[in-house]
Parts: sequence; structure tokens; C-alpha cells
Amino acid sequence: MKKILPMTHGLRGTIEIPGDKSISHRSIILSSLGSTPVEVTNFLAGADCLSTVACMKALGTKIERTAEKILITGHGLHGLREPENILDAGNSGTTLRLLMGLIAPQKFLTTFTGDDSLRKRPMARVIKPLSKMGAAIFGRNDNKNLPITILPTEKNLHGIFYEMPVASAQVKSAILLAGLFADSPTTVIEPAPSRDHTEKMLAAFGARLEKIGNAIKIFPAEKFTAPEKISVPGDISSAAYWLVLATILDGSDVTIKNVGINETRTGILDVLKDMGAKIELLNEKISGGEKSADIKVVAAKLRGVEFGGEIIPRLIDEIPALAVAAAFAEGTTIIRDVGELRVKETDRLAAIVEEFNKISPETFTATDNSLIIRGGRKKFFAECNTRADHRMAMSLSIFGAAANGVSVDDESCVKISYPNFFDVF
Ligand code: S3P
Repeated sequence: MKKILPMTHGLRGTIEIPGDKSISHRSIILSSLGSTPVEVTNFLAGADCLSTVACMKALGTKIERTAEKILITGHGLHGLREPENILDAGNSGTTLRLLMGLIAPQKFLTTFTGDDSLRKRPMARVIKPLSKMGAAIFGRNDNKNLPITILPTEKNLHGIFYEMPVASAQVKSAILLAGLFADSPTTVIEPAPSRDHTEKMLAAFGARLEKIGNAIKIFPAEKFTAPEKISVPGDISSAAYWLVLATILDGSDVTIKNVGINETRTGILDVLKDMGAKIELLNEKISGGEKSADIKVVAAKLRGVEFGGEIIPRLIDEIPALAVAAAFAEGTTIIRDVGELRVKETDRLAAIVEEFNKISPETFTATDNSLIIRGGRKKFFAECNTRADHRMAMSLSIFGAAANGVSVDDESCVKISYPNFFDVF
């Protein structure tokens, strides 16, 4: 249990945030396919990325970790070996879905499992395209939930042309990774652009990709050369809590250092600015195709806004934090097309409505696919349940700090993406 007191002053100074979770996962997976050592700095040592580390070690990759960096040495494109045990992806959808794509073309058998949350999440969305490529994958029940077994492939997978029904970077990445090993090119079409870290990093390793509109075509790998270094920018999804808290707390003036600002991730900046936030990007730079900047934010009065459609995949993980901002805005905020939130670490639409309303009653309502927030209502101290979801724990914490305090039942789940969140707080 963690009790957060109301904050009596704004946030001031500078904040360092941990490395980007999505890029950290990909740095381990792609480096495992190289044959020379890769030094990854600012790697996020959160529980999700450590699940990827454990799985890749079990598949034969050499991974050495110190406090500052992580060194990964693979055995080449065809150097993965059969794991001796079931691979456990823990709470991490990214670990599981990306590794399903990596394992589908392999000539050995692999079984995956995960924690209570991951075992309930939909995996048919990955199994379907990989099966079309020729993989043999079996899941539990009609929903094809974990545990999932991938049989050894006898022949190479074949390239496919696949239109994804949902915009999901995890599904897209699984197909692209499998496509590296197929006998012909693979094209995947997204309904809206999702985060493109896999494409950017694959290109940095020398893989051949072509992008036309929302279609991405990957060619079977001929050369795959690991860079000597990967420098992971800070995670904008972790910066989101401070962006929102600094905006809603009077007197705030903070700079968040070295935040990844890849355009497929910056929807939160666009929406907060539309709401009236004062946000400025400083010291922009680029490394390995990924842009980063320091973000300066000062307190501002917010107004309700309406958004949906193409912007949603660009801010999908930030909706709980944005919902907090909307509760402090004047007027109503309507967020459309967010049904995907129902299949995250928990049903985040239900969690927001049930838990956030304890702090600000009659503020949050949801339909199947949208979230409505009536800003400016009275706020109270409340005892809230995180549902073991890291993003709920952090969003509830900033909500309580800006309102009349909150107690959260389980603070340990922040270890998934932001292990030192409460120390920074
Ligand atoms: C991620 C993709 C998104 C996101 C998740 C990380 C990734 O999931 O919500 O936190 O690293 O590819 P979906 O692919 O399910 O949208």
C-alpha cells in the first residue's frame, strides 16, 4: 500500500526518466540476431524488458548487464537454439508477441507462458498472420490464449500480404520479424500508423524495408549487421506522468531530459497542447533513427478536447495520464476509438471509470470504444486499486497528488516500466 499526499506546490527542476521500454525490448531482440557485441546504454531494466532478456538468454544469446549498460552478443541470424524450458514472458505483451514472430520460423519447438494478466490477453491477432506464413502455432481454448506452443518449421515460412484489422505495433513487429526469415517479401498494412521502432532498428541493422503509406514491405534478410552501440532515449510514456502533473499543478516549471520524440509516439504532446498546455522541445537530436529532446513544461489552464482515429495509436499508453489531465480541464473531453484499452494489462477503460471516479465522482464514463471525462468536478481522498497495472498505479498517484491524496493498494507494479517512479516522485 502506498499513500500519496496532496502536493502543495508545483514541480520545479529537471527530471531524468528511464529508457524507452519499446526500444529496449527491440535492442535485445535484434542484437541477438547479430554476430558481434552490441552495447546498449540507458536500457530500461524494468520487469518487462528483463522478461525479454531472460527469454533471449534461454534462446542462446549472451547478455551481460551492469548498472550503466548491457552488452548483447548473438550468434547470427540462424544462431538461436532450442530453449530447455518453457519461456515466461511475465506481464509483457511486447516480449511475447515479438518473440512469437521471431520463433515462428525456427526449426525448434518453443512453449510460452506468462502471468495472470498476459494469459488473458488476445494472441489470435499474432497467431493468424504467422499461421498464414506457414507457422504451426497452438494456443489454449478458442481465444488461443497462453500457454502457446510453436512447432518446429520444416520448410521456410513464406511471405504474405496482410492487412491488420487493428493498429498494433506488437503484431506488426511479429510479422516483420518472421518476414526476415521468409522465402519471399512480406507486406503488412496498418489501419493507422503505430510506433515504428522495429522498422527503424531493423533498418539500422541493414535489413531491407520499404514503406509506402501505411504499408511496410520487408525482404528476407541477406545481410544483418549489428551496430556497435544503441543509445536508448527516455520513454515518453514514462515522461507522460510528469508532463501531466506539471501542467495541472500551479507554479510548475520542469524540464524532462532526453525524451524520445519519435512521431509515432508524440500524440500526448499534440493533445496536451490542444488542451492549452505549455510545452517546449529543446536540444533535439537523433541517434539510430530515433529523435529525442528535452521537454520543458510549465503549469497551464486546460480545456476539454475531442479526439480519436489516427492519433490513438500515437498515445495509446498515455490515455490514463491524459484522462487525469482532462479531469482538471474546463469542459468535457471525449476520446474516441479506444476499445484497445480493454485488452491491455487490465481493462483500462473499466479501471479508469471505476477507480478514477473514486477520486473525482461522476467524472469518467465509458462506452465500448470511447471515454468521456467531465472536467472540473470536486475531488476527494480515495483508496484505489491498481489492478496490478503499472500505468494505472502511476496515473492514480499523480491524480491523487494533484487532488486530495490517494492510497494505492499495490505500488510494486510500477517495476514493469518505471522501477524508480516513487523515488523520483
Ligand atoms: C508496444 C505496442 C503497444 C503498446 C505497448 C508497447 C510495443 O501495444 O500499448 O505498451 O512496444 O510494440 P499494441 O501493439 O498492442 O498496440
